[in-house]
Amino acid sequence: MNRRLVPGDRLVVATHNPGKLAEIAELLAPHGLVAVSAGSLGLPEPEESAEDFAGNARIKARSAAERAGLPALADDSGFCVAALNGKPGVHSARWAGDGRDFTSAMQRVHEAAGNAPDRRAWFVCALCLAWPDGETATFVGRVDGSFVWPPRGARGFGYDPVFAPIGGAETYGEMEPARKHATSHRARAMAQFAAWLAEAPPSA
Ligand code: IMP
Repeated sequence: MNRRLVPGDRLVVATHNPGKLAEIAELLAPHGLVAVSAGSLGLPEPEESAEDFAGNARIKARSAAERAGLPALADDSGFCVAALNGKPGVHSARWAGDGRDFTSAMQRVHEAAGNAPDRRAWFVCALCLAWPDGETATFVGRVDGSFVWPPRGARGFGYDPVFAPIGGAETYGEMEPARKHATSHRARAMAQFAAWLAEAPPSA
């Protein structure tokens, strides 16, 4: 099987989030790849039962590729706090509950971390490309920084107001979005995938 993706190939983007779909479609377009949304194919969202980001991205990408009979790309991401042994991690969305209340999710992180002197925190994004036969390629991006309390800034989403990347005084909630998007965990995973797209040699 030829593992190379070539111009004109269709690729399922295994997300039901329109923002992520647009971002990934933009990345694929210069390579002549056509993004097909999982929603438009009526694909179900599988349970994200893995213990790490790469594992969950693999579950989503494999499920979509197998059902669609096309290569599929999925991502998984989250916020990790050193004093909490990496939590909320793969449960980042779940800590916000069904109402997606990130004010209370951030409060929960703050209460769990207490006065622990270790303030290190990081975001991770795993992107996984899967083929219908189950073969995968995974790309992981990470951005390191610190957990900030109280939350600052109204930009961004999720845990952005309580994270400041190393070397910067601003939180992601205060930062110019273009600056965040150029260096974030997601940008780093996407850059690795883009490099792979540009270089991937054809396999037998
Ligand atoms: P998922 O990747 O869609 O499963 O979402 C993971 C969760 O991690 C999101 O709901 C956010 O809470 C959090 N998260 C991931 N990336 C970011 C980010 O760039 N800023 C803030 N929160 C994020």
